Amino acid sequence: MEKMNTTNRNDYVLLTGATSGIGYELAKLFAADGFHLILVARNAERLQEVADELKTRYSVEVTPLSKDLFLPSAAREIYDFTKRMGIEVSVLVNDAGQGQWGPFVETELQRDLDIIQLNISSLVSLTKLYLRDMVAMGRGKILQLGSEAGTTPVPLLSVYAATKAFVLSFSAALANEMKDKNVTVTVLLPGATDTDFFHKAEQEDTVIYKEEKLSSPEEVALDGYQALMKGENKIISGAKTKYHVWMADFVGAKMSAENMRKKMEPSREADGRDESAHEASRKERAAIREKTNALSGDSSIGNQAPYDDSPGEIKPF
Ligand SMILES: NC(=O)c1ccc[n+]([C@@H]2O[C@H](COP(=O)([O-])OP(=O)(O)OC[C@H]3O[C@@H](n4cnc5c(N)ncnc54)[C@H](OP(=O)(O)O)[C@@H]3O)[C@@H](O)[C@H]2O)c1
Repeated sequence: MEKMNTTNRNDYVLLTGATSGIGYELAKLFAADGFHLILVARNAERLQEVADELKTRYSVEVTPLSKDLFLPSAAREIYDFTKRMGIEVSVLVNDAGQGQWGPFVETELQRDLDIIQLNISSLVSLTKLYLRDMVAMGRGKILQLGSEAGTTPVPLLSVYAATKAFVLSFSAALANEMKDKNVTVTVLLPGATDTDFFHKAEQEDTVIYKEEKLSSPEEVALDGYQALMKGENKIISGAKTKYHVWMADFVGAKMSAENMRKKMEPSREADGRDESAHEASRKERAAIREKTNALSGDSSIGNQAPYDDSPGEIKPF
């Protein structure tokens, strides 16, 4: 067991996307500072593993809650669950998010709509439900996962980038509305980060993933965590990302779209990156591979597998 920090013992954090990448690293930071956690993702087994790991290491309460935020009902079900448990959530982290690589005319419409549901509608729903309670309590903190991609058009990742532009604008407006309510809203803008995101988005063969230096999820999570704790409204993670955001603004949308397109094109680099160096993100990929194989017998790796968020009922998507 690591250090036992009792400073935040009465505070509960609801964190989506906790099993992999940036969300997993955020969960560790909260646990190390003594926050109790309600962790949301789809894969119940991975959630249980992460919950057991954090409970053992940091001696905090960790409640895993398997929910699929592609479903419009999920946010309300999460909120009702915490109400039934008598938990007052004082920190909300909307981390879960996905993208889909490909020309817009070729990607599946349902996949685009699922991404909008996850990245926008579920985020808005969770924010609405918990923000009202925070205002009533007279305190609270919200961290929204935006992206560098929300500051520029991104050809071949168009819907994803547009959802993150929404998150950026929405979060800045709420931060203003909350300024005299003792509730803060922070938006975190990571640049390309070494997680399973690229695999779920079928973006593994692109220049950006194969060839570029990526941020580490640990660094990004720490930037977001520190900004959240200070009550800052916006944090762009890392010097390179700050430069990219500045440059996109400077050259304008048309030129920036051209620049982004080059990074989104297929790479000619045969020996580039093909898996994340981040252990929890590699576990996420292995779990997806295992589920895909178990369900279909197909040895090819799907970008994601169907998950069961209510016992006995497999929900395909
Ligand atoms: N990686 C990057 O380059 C990058 C850059 C900028 C911003 N971001 C943003 O950072 C956030 C985290 O991304 P990441 O890179 O850490 O991704 P990741 O490694 O793929 O992790 C995504 C997490 O979200 C969960 N999740 C995915 N779909 C879900 C759904 N439908 N319902 C509930 N949970 C779901 C996943 O667990 P399950 O699969 O078990 O559901 C996992 O815990 C996202 O909002 C992303 O847009 C990422």
